[in-house]
Amino acid sequence: MSTHAAVILAAGKGTRMNSRTPKVLHQVCGTEMLCLVGEAARQAGLAPVAVVVPQDSGLIESALGSEVSYVTQKEQLGTGHAVLQAEKLMKTVDNILVMYGDVPLVNANTLKQMMKRHDETEACITLLTSTLVNPTGLGRIIRDPSGTITAIVEEQEADAQTRSIREINSGFYCFRGPWLWKHLNGLPPSKKGEVFLTDLVALASLQGMQIESILSEDAYETMGVNNRVQLAEAETVMRQRIREHWMMSGVSMPDPSSVYIDHTVELGQDTIILPNTHITGRTQVGEACRIGPNSMISDSSIGNGCDVLSSVIRDSHLDDNVDVGPFSHIRGGSHLGQGVHVGTSAEIKNSRLGPDTKMGHFSYMGDAHLGKNVNIAAGAITCNFDGENKNETYIGDDVFVGCDTMLVAPVTMGKGSATGAGSVVTKDVAENTLVVGVPAKELPKKPKSVKEPNS
Ligand code: UD1
Ligand code: CA
Repeated sequence: MSTHAAVILAAGKGTRMNSRTPKVLHQVCGTEMLCLVGEAARQAGLAPVAVVVPQDSGLIESALGSEVSYVTQKEQLGTGHAVLQAEKLMKTVDNILVMYGDVPLVNANTLKQMMKRHDETEACITLLTSTLVNPTGLGRIIRDPSGTITAIVEEQEADAQTRSIREINSGFYCFRGPWLWKHLNGLPPSKKGEVFLTDLVALASLQGMQIESILSEDAYETMGVNNRVQLAEAETVMRQRIREHWMMSGVSMPDPSSVYIDHTVELGQDTIILPNTHITGRTQVGEACRIGPNSMISDSSIGNGCDVLSSVIRDSHLDDNVDVGPFSHIRGGSHLGQGVHVGTSAEIKNSRLGPDTKMGHFSYMGDAHLGKNVNIAAGAITCNFDGENKNETYIGDDVFVGCDTMLVAPVTMGKGSATGAGSVVTKDVAENTLVVGVPAKELPKKPKSVKEPNS
């Protein structure tokens, strides 16, 4: 079997984006365009993969990682010149699939079909084309009366008749390696001084070489992104693809158009995503959860059977059967144990709440470690910042923290201890002890074991 490698072009200036960020690093549904193209190459089995990058490409390399090789194009002299930079690396490969890093919706299956056609026909070049209602700005496919491809003409070089052609060049090409390297170097530059990779097609045609194509059935997958309007269009298409994928996998969305799910998210069966909800980054949601309306979850993992109503969860972990909201904020690496209840207007930062702990109303836990079955009553907070340092609070199992208690960290509440309403706790509290007042002092009596959440 012949080998197929990929060369992904990502060195262009991307002027039309008007951005300090390289064009190919703009994201579509939370993933950089270049990473989506790279993923399609990997899924299609292309190897090795070389990415042509501009100088100072640190950002690109850290987004894409070390599984691909990088070659630098020092000056942006066009797509033909860009591919030439990969010659040394790819000299011995039979076939080169050139891909553009700004065509984010391409499917791995389409790439596989291209390679298959290329192998079966033994063509010199196999192109991926598409027929668009509005082909403005794109290279047009020129065919002779028999339907054979004879050239690609760029928009800026096209006359009116050529511009009326609706079949376009997608920017994906399979080339026979030896032919590519033999002819790429000698390609003359365009009027503007750029070497167009697309000019190889007319050259192959003149030489009588075979040029094949496949027509993409999904016009969107060939959509190039040159500006932010096109970026938003690509995002709209991908967002819909993602929603359809999850709905077909058993996730309900009564109003899908108001649901935003990143490419990197995973959702469990029988979960329902209610309107105006954003689930982004590396987030996993388990089965039979109810998320939204009006929730935002990013880079978090949510267990099975959880309910997140009108709340924000970031960089955190919820075990099974946790309910949060409305209007609460869980963040900074927090971990809520099984069956935890977080009610209205609570904030939890860098804290751990043990199983069955309840925190119903207007509370803040920061840098705190709570055991199981703790009750945090309305308005109780940790005073975790002393103006200089963040200090930790330890709350043992079965503790009852009364309404409006201030826990001045660092402080520990022993297992089974309790505070009265309005206490300001400045010193550690021993197990099974009730403290009250400002500053809180021990009452001689043992606390009743009041464990009902106040509601
Ligand atoms: C290109 C094609 C056009 C096609 C369209 C599909 C050429 C000459 N034109 O036009 O036929 O219809 O894509 O979307 O190829 N790049 C480099 N180095 C350079 C120039 C570009 O690496 O010197 C990279 C860019 O980063 C980008 C890709 O090549 O990923 C395409 O370049 P771009 O300038 O966007 O070409 P288009 O004008 O879109
Ligand atoms: Ca482009």
